[in-house]
Amino acid sequence: MQKIIIQGGNTLSGTISISGAKNSAVALIPAAILCDEETTIYSVPEISDRDNLIKIIEKLNGKVQVDKDTLHIDSRNIENVYIPEELSSKLRASYYFMGALLGRNKYVEISLPGGCKIGNRKIDFHLKGFKALGATIIEEENKYIIKADKLVGNKVYFDFASVGATINVMLAAVKAEGTTIINNAAKEPEIVNVATFLNNMGAKIRGAGTSKITIEGVNYLHKAMVEVIPDRIEAGTYIILGALIGERLTIKNVIKEHLTSLISKLQEIGVKIESDENDIIINKADRLASFNITTLIYPGFPTDLAQPMTVLMTQCDGTSILEETIHSNRMGQVPYLNSMGADITVKNQMAFIKGKTPLYGNDVTASDLRAGASLIIAGLIAKGTTKISDIEHILRGYEHIVEKLSNVGANIKIIEE
Ligand code: EPU
Repeated sequence: MQKIIIQGGNTLSGTISISGAKNSAVALIPAAILCDEETTIYSVPEISDRDNLIKIIEKLNGKVQVDKDTLHIDSRNIENVYIPEELSSKLRASYYFMGALLGRNKYVEISLPGGCKIGNRKIDFHLKGFKALGATIIEEENKYIIKADKLVGNKVYFDFASVGATINVMLAAVKAEGTTIINNAAKEPEIVNVATFLNNMGAKIRGAGTSKITIEGVNYLHKAMVEVIPDRIEAGTYIILGALIGERLTIKNVIKEHLTSLISKLQEIGVKIESDENDIIINKADRLASFNITTLIYPGFPTDLAQPMTVLMTQCDGTSILEETIHSNRMGQVPYLNSMGADITVKNQMAFIKGKTPLYGNDVTASDLRAGASLIIAGLIAKGTTKISDIEHILRGYEHIVEKLSNVGANIKIIEE
């Protein structure tokens, strides 16, 4: 079994270049199968989620050529093939094949999606959207069959601005007859990235990035290309690390506007951040004041950075409070941080973090992707050795994380044990 082993205490300096966004790439790859010709996606991160989505496209008789971080996808011969559990359960984003195959072939048969176990993660909004477009949904023990004679545009309203449901309904609607309007749509930058890709193919989507998205159906989608936007969560993870142990740590290839909620919060508590067009330079703060955050939909504070922030909070003077409002079970890192010396109490969706506490290396487990990232940060600031198990969660979402951190001075490696 692979584990990550870290000797804490090193200062980090140099440059970390940010990869394409996981949560964009995992939607863009399924979106490519809506194309009636060929597509190219640039800046795709080399993560296991990418490889699992490629396997699904190949299962559907599509062809994918991988050229470093570029994918060439030929979706001309995509067929309706059942996507079995061993493929669908590897990641959450396998559910984007529901919208994409429904939109393309009016039929999809797929087992349940997987992904991090960070809450209930229902897909009722997705299904409600497909139904509004005219689809019938048959739910069997462990799979969905979703089919339609034809899809017709309609108005869809989500009770909560779900990222997944917004993208999935957009995928189903691009080739529907007539106009679909999604109200209370999610506004995350990843949604804009997907809409741009579809529009590059000839789709007619307006309003992506706002809470009302209008999609006029088209019959044919032609050859197109797209670049994955930089990963704001990967960048945020390294920025948080820089605030703790950075010495002019440069985070390169970022879209600063996507990180406003994080950067503003760090500046409020005393972290010095310099930036130019695409880079952020960050130094460790001598003293960090305690602070509170509540996770919100974009442009609020992202849930995906809340777990790494709990590690920063352990190093602040006083009690900090984190309130998680998006996912119901996103505190998997807490028992392990406490085993390393943190003083964190969780009540319902809130974490109360008393600082400043020194952290000490320990054997810990990555319960999910961002919990794993938190444990890497904790290991890097701790005294002694930290050994992290279940690292497949981390490798699902952070491209070359061990290499990137080693290159800026971290003592971190993957071992077989
Ligand atoms: N929800 C429902 N019904 C639905 C859909 C969502 O009740 O049909 C609820 C969920 O249970 C959850 C909330 O709405 O409590 C938010 O879910 P959303 O659909 O927005 O999240 P997601 O699409 O499942 C994506 C990212 C997550 C990220 C969230 C929020 C991908 C593959 N995943 O998940 O990323 O936390 O949006 O921004 O894009 C991560 O990268 O670590 C990660 C978990």
